[in-house]
Amino acid sequence: MTELLGSTWLNYLVAIVLLIISTLVFIKIHIYSHWKRRGIIQANASPPWGSIKNFVLGRTSIAEVFAEIYKQGEGHPIIGFYSFLTPALVIREPDYMKRILVRDYDHFSDRGIYSNRKIDPLSYHLFSTDGPHHKEMRYMLSPSFTGSKMRIIFETMQNCSSKLCDHLCKLVSSSGKGEKTLEIKNITNTYGVNVIASAGVGLDFNKFDEENPLAEAAMKATDPDDTLQSLRFTLAMVSPSITRLFNMRFTPKDVSDFYLDLVQKIINHRKSNNETRKDFMQLLLNMNEEIEKSNGTDTRKPLSLDEIAAQTFLFILGGHETSSAAICFLLYEMALNPDIQARLHEEIDAMDGNINYDNIKEMEYLNMVFNETLRKYPAAPTLIRLCVKDYMLPNGFLIKKGTQVMVPVYGLHWDANYFPQPDKFDPERFSPKAPTHQIQPFTFLPFGEGPRYCIGKRFGVASVKLGVTSILSKFRIELAEKTKIPMKIESKTFITNPYKGLTLKLVARDT
Ligand code: HEM
Repeated sequence: MTELLGSTWLNYLVAIVLLIISTLVFIKIHIYSHWKRRGIIQANASPPWGSIKNFVLGRTSIAEVFAEIYKQGEGHPIIGFYSFLTPALVIREPDYMKRILVRDYDHFSDRGIYSNRKIDPLSYHLFSTDGPHHKEMRYMLSPSFTGSKMRIIFETMQNCSSKLCDHLCKLVSSSGKGEKTLEIKNITNTYGVNVIASAGVGLDFNKFDEENPLAEAAMKATDPDDTLQSLRFTLAMVSPSITRLFNMRFTPKDVSDFYLDLVQKIINHRKSNNETRKDFMQLLLNMNEEIEKSNGTDTRKPLSLDEIAAQTFLFILGGHETSSAAICFLLYEMALNPDIQARLHEEIDAMDGNINYDNIKEMEYLNMVFNETLRKYPAAPTLIRLCVKDYMLPNGFLIKKGTQVMVPVYGLHWDANYFPQPDKFDPERFSPKAPTHQIQPFTFLPFGEGPRYCIGKRFGVASVKLGVTSILSKFRIELAEKTKIPMKIESKTFITNPYKGLTLKLVARDT
């Protein structure tokens, strides 16, 4: 009897092992040959991760994964890869990018990334919505990002940047030596949140050294040390089918509850005090009022509290991390390149503190340094589009509806064919007078392109430049003993970030 039972279990075990082996063989031979059968080159893939194994296992950043796929496709206009079991495409040819992002946008109007309105209302926002809903929201939100709106908002931004400066001055002078080694990432993160919160959403949490619940909530939602949270976030972008399968949420529940409650309080406060502001939140509230007053002639549906919260939370999330990372990378490069820093100091000093929205745009060298920073460290390592209608590329390859298409920004920005010596920080590439080389269209895409390019570009550029000029007007940036060289990129976040923060030495310039 025992012998019989033993052999039954053994049979089960053998059957399971055989099943697993045959599934893996099926995946390897059949699923992972999809692109070969379609006649194009494909990236290496191993079951069950596909081509993104190193990212899923936390070994490399998503930026490096796509840069590697991009490299494997050398000499080809497109390369296929696999997100777990799903075949997707990386575009390599800049002319094709132009078609996908701009010219033939109607075939690629969606991102197709995951959001879950029901269990995670804050995930349903402009970045994650598609189709007519996205179009309507984008149309409605765009007026809040015009040059004239930015001119008004710039004053509020200046208030935040001077608070940033005060905070840094206090820290440096507390050392009694006129210099201090600081972990700068948390500080720039808080600045990033404060700028968006006060200039964009009318929340004045402009604090650095006291409790700042909004900054804490935003950082918690994007915390790279929360491995599962980071993985969920990135998988929602590059492998939505997996997140959909597990019905995941990616805003932590306590963060979501805190923010929904905060928005409710702001709305109540504005309504009961008849208060109006010039911020994004007000634009959404105004739209609701227009719809309600129209007595049904305006057929749009008023936005719910969840929808208003989701859009504004996206600005806080999308805006603070990108801007704060850009400030960090720029300061890091200044510490590594004292000559470039000295030239930037000269330009900042020449402004004599008279900086406004218009003249900061005219600061030529600052602009060159800013562009070179985003060239080396693009915030979004890849742009994502979903093919919504079959599309024939000029080489005769048919992209079928439902295929996710990636534009590998990081790969392009580090391609020596477009940016010689890509690891060299060389602002001269972007000199309007004598560029060290011609930048080919659609090879420099830090804010994306086409109808889904970054809606907050003006806002982001202004807040980064303002943060940088405020810091450099008071301090020289130097490498500290603890500064990691070369800089390692965080492997767990979708947004390109320095790994485990950034330590730099700030030296007061008037000592
Ligand atoms: C240096 C700062 C920033 C960088 C580098 C950056 C970069 C990007 C990139 C690459 C995209 C994707 C574009 C595409 O797919 O073509 C994007 C989209 C977006 N960004 Fe930014 N961003 C920055 C700041 C901001 C700020 C401050 C806000 C809000 C106030 C913002 C809001 C958004 C939104 C809402 C989208 C989605 C647009 C849509 O799908 O219609 N960004 N950003």
